[in-house]
Amino acid sequence: MKAEARGELPPYFNLDPEAAERILGHAADTAEFARIARACAAGRDDLATRGLEEDGRRSLRLFSTWEITRYLIPVAQGHFRRVLKQNPELPQGRSETEGGAKWFTLDEVLRLRAHFAAEGSKAKNYLPWRPEGLPAKMVAVANFKGGVGKTSTAAHLAMSAALDGYRVLVIDLDSQGSMTSIFGGRVEDEWQTVFPLIARHYARHLRSENQRRLDRGEAPLPLDDTLSEALDTSARTLVQKTHWPNIDLIGAQLNLYWAEFQIPVWRMQGRGWKLWDTLTDGLAADGLLDEYDIVFLDTPPALGYLTINGLAAADILLVPLGASFLEFDSTGRFFDMLHSTFSSIEEAENVAARALGREGLAFQWDAVRAVITRYDGTQQAELAALMQAYLGPVLSPHRQDYTALIGQAGEQVRGIYEADYRDFNRETYARGRETFDATYAALKQLLLGSWRRDQREASNAGEAAE
Ligand SMILES: Nc1ncnc2c1ncn2[C@@H]1O[C@H](COP(=O)(O)OP(=O)(O)OP(=O)(O)O)[C@@H](O)[C@H]1O
Ligand SMILES: [Mg+2]
Repeated sequence: MKAEARGELPPYFNLDPEAAERILGHAADTAEFARIARACAAGRDDLATRGLEEDGRRSLRLFSTWEITRYLIPVAQGHFRRVLKQNPELPQGRSETEGGAKWFTLDEVLRLRAHFAAEGSKAKNYLPWRPEGLPAKMVAVANFKGGVGKTSTAAHLAMSAALDGYRVLVIDLDSQGSMTSIFGGRVEDEWQTVFPLIARHYARHLRSENQRRLDRGEAPLPLDDTLSEALDTSARTLVQKTHWPNIDLIGAQLNLYWAEFQIPVWRMQGRGWKLWDTLTDGLAADGLLDEYDIVFLDTPPALGYLTINGLAAADILLVPLGASFLEFDSTGRFFDMLHSTFSSIEEAENVAARALGREGLAFQWDAVRAVITRYDGTQQAELAALMQAYLGPVLSPHRQDYTALIGQAGEQVRGIYEADYRDFNRETYARGRETFDATYAALKQLLLGSWRRDQREASNAGEAAE
């Protein structure tokens, strides 16, 4: 029975100050924060070690013949089995029971797919398309509103792209490090995050600036220890392997937040520093844009320097938002801030460029799309339709449904693709997976379209030069 039906007052009436004081507890001092932090850390470690391997690493589950032929390699089960039988050198999988379903590691799935691509029907795309000679595409997921599904979207896209056979690099730009824990990353301090890449970019700028100063007879600016150390780092040393054979990670942890204070100091000091080129330059200089097909950047819920860096590096920008008034409203303001931030960078740069007769700066993205996340068709259809009407093609027509599979998949932060489908009702699993598969399909469409455009432009430019 409800309190009202029992004739009781709402709970905030008739509170007794004496009793309230008795249960208040002691006053909190600064040290209280440290105590709470220790309790959280202990609980977190407890949670994080559940379901891990003995050596404390995460491991990826196995994939069954049903799942492989249904989702990963488009062949009939019977044909798949026949091909394995005819080719004993191929991975044969393992079964849990005598004669039971065969299960394969993702590495094995990738080898099998390569075999089908080489030997199978040429009419099927066993391998995902990427034009030769063009760099990896960078995809940033951003919105300054918190909790809109940035990390979930980026993590699931990374996993679907990996299942599809792409080589994926995930970069965590959020000092909360959620993406890093999803991929089991270990980050001691800021030197294992993107921080040294930014520092190296600035240090190289400062070094060439100093050369110019010396030529003009001015005293050089000092390179402090941080900058000297950064000059010796390579993006390769920052990349860690994950439990996914074709997903690597540049992780983040709390210390990365330091970059938000350090970058403005460097900007003041080195006025000509092209901060917005740091990530692309840093990855390109060390060859990483050739080694991976797609780079996903997860950003913090703020439009700070790290987010600006990520957005400037991105070819494709995805902005997740829920179909709610508040999220629509603040996403509008986010786009407003993007406009003023990037146009003020362009203006400042172009004043200098014009004075020196150089070509101006104009940021460009292959595609910018807002994506509705956590969609509940029974409650939000009207608002989503209104958003679609106002935003038009900028709002991706696919809506990512709310699914109970996220967050509930075990104690660990895990993705749908990491969960064993046998742990769920088949219908729930299929629907949850479908919605994230569709999110990936929408991104893959943008990816292929923009690679194709680049390829065509490169070949036109080649012909024009002949
Ligand atoms: N499609 C979905 N269905 C159900 N829950 C979801 C879905 N997408 C995200 N969530 C849940 O919403 C919450 C916020 O998601 P997420 O952490 O991805 O957001 P975020 O934008 O990265 O947050 P932050 O701004 O803190 O970085 C999480 O608890 C996540 O499990
Ligand atoms: Mg996040």
